[in-house]
Amino acid sequence: MSIIPGIKRRIDRLEIITASDLASLPLFLKRWSQVEIEIGSGNGHFLAQYARNQASKGLLGIELKAKRCRKIQKKISALRLGNVLIFHGNANQLLTCLYPGSIDAFHIYFPDPWPKTKQRKRRFIKQPLLKKLYLLLKPSGRIYFASDVYDYFLQVRLLALADGRFSCFNNSLPPEAELSLYAQKTYQHGQDLFTVTLIKKTDQELELK
Ligand SMILES: C[S@@+](CC[C@H](N)C(=O)[O-])C[C@H]1O[C@@H](n2cnc3c(N)ncnc32)[C@H](O)[C@@H]1O
Repeated sequence: MSIIPGIKRRIDRLEIITASDLASLPLFLKRWSQVEIEIGSGNGHFLAQYARNQASKGLLGIELKAKRCRKIQKKISALRLGNVLIFHGNANQLLTCLYPGSIDAFHIYFPDPWPKTKQRKRRFIKQPLLKKLYLLLKPSGRIYFASDVYDYFLQVRLLALADGRFSCFNNSLPPEAELSLYAQKTYQHGQDLFTVTLIKKTDQELELK
């Protein structure tokens, strides 16, 4: 697909991109040997600090709400970061544009909980999504997850167990995850925080099973 010069300019300036700019995504991704993605970045509290501490990595933040994208952009500009691109839109849309085996990690912190039984089918992490993330991850790539909703945490662990191609570890998130707005709210309210890291098993590990 040819890239329109205007879109290339937006990538060079790290402006917020939308669905119509997705053809240009490889232009950003190929600049980095390691790429990590945060799905549902909210106001960017985690993303900005993590990007500052991980300057050698390319980071992509995905956020559905325009106002929140602008807040992330403000934080990134204030810190003069050159390694973060923000996608304003639905994560499902962006995930279809990535190459298999190209992503080092996904960060999913406090996805919308949909706590009522009837609403649970709206949760972002479901079996097809996990399969998709598995394909997109590099060998030993990671999915970092945190929630204050215990049964969402259990759901993620069970999905990973059923899939069989991930190893699960509790309490192994990057320290910056504690800076996410919802993590801070959880701490302030004295609530429990449930975390898990899923690590994609290598072909060798799968053969040993
Ligand atoms: C509960 S907030 C958590 C924000 C942040 N991760 C934190 O820990 O403070 C969930 C965020 O995910 C965003 N979101 C929900 N579904 C999404 C989707 N399919 N694609 C991109 N963002 C999404 C929402 O707009 C919201 O900002």
